[in-house]
Amino acid sequence: MPTNESLSDNLLAGQPVLRFTDASLSFGARTLWSHLNLSVRAGEFIAVIGANGSGKTSMLKVILGQQQLTSGSVEFLGSPIARGNQRIGYIPQQKLADDGTPLRARDLVGLGLVGHRFGIPWPSARRRKQVDTLLDSVGATAYGDVSISHLSGGEQQRLRVGQALAGDPALLLCDEPLLSLDLNYQRAVSELIDEQRRQRDLGVLFVTHDINPVLGMVDRVLYLAGGRFRIGTPDEVLRSDVLSELYGSPVDVIRSRGRVIVVGTPDGANGHPDGVPAHHDEEHDGHPDSAGGPGRGGE
Ligand SMILES: Nc1ncnc2c1ncn2[C@@H]1O[C@H](COP(=O)(O)OP(=O)(O)OP(=O)(O)O)[C@@H](O)[C@H]1O
Ligand SMILES: [Mg+2]
Repeated sequence: MPTNESLSDNLLAGQPVLRFTDASLSFGARTLWSHLNLSVRAGEFIAVIGANGSGKTSMLKVILGQQQLTSGSVEFLGSPIARGNQRIGYIPQQKLADDGTPLRARDLVGLGLVGHRFGIPWPSARRRKQVDTLLDSVGATAYGDVSISHLSGGEQQRLRVGQALAGDPALLLCDEPLLSLDLNYQRAVSELIDEQRRQRDLGVLFVTHDINPVLGMVDRVLYLAGGRFRIGTPDEVLRSDVLSELYGSPVDVIRSRGRVIVVGTPDGANGHPDGVPAHHDEEHDGHPDSAGGPGRGGE
């Protein structure tokens, strides 16, 4: 059965990187999530799943200090959130560059370095070396001098991972980094993020419509639906009984050949809340997760 957050917290070793305490976010009369208690520990990989408009990006914006909670609190490394914290790496939800931008791969990665955020980067041997190291760590050395508009979606995503790693983050926020990538690139980009979180002991919040590419990497799932949520391991959350209860209507979770398929969610959240087509070989993967107690927002 799903465990609640306090139970999960007891199992965590060390200080959390990020901690939400009784946190709620509403816009007008609409509650996106409420009474969220969630601690993310160093090295923990959490997938965030939910339909379009369920509040996933808004949650990341709260962590970045760009959006205020309606109630409750959130702390990063034990302190209240401060905007512009270099130690939070962020891969925003956005389209890939296809507009002929003259930015080269190494320029994009370099934008993540301290001092490059405001104005034109000052060239120096040290910076160049830092960028070379980042390019190498994301496997992008071969195309460091290529204009990003000439790179494939998967190659661009590698660079954006490199950019997000440039500030030596303790927490990596990834907002649908696999969107529009084919299965091979989904695997490559998710493995890259997984490898980096292990090497750097990074906490990772990974927003995705499809749990399957990261199913083997995920420690816990935060599943948002209808103003409520569940948190727990994939086995705790991705269950017919748990999701049916979360949605308040019958939902089937099918496991087939190592993949998770969620059928019957009223919001289409399993897998493709935004109407993004599923991959051919998979239907959806919903990942509900959750934890019973504090897990229910908006009720
Ligand atoms: N500043 C704001 N003021 C009012 N409403 C907002 C604001 N920011 C977000 N919203 C609304 O909150 C809801 C959640 O938005 P959010 O971007 O967090 O969704 P999401 O889960 O990331 O969805 P998607 O899967 O489409 O990216 C949406 O209905 C959005 O219109
Ligand atoms: Mg979003």
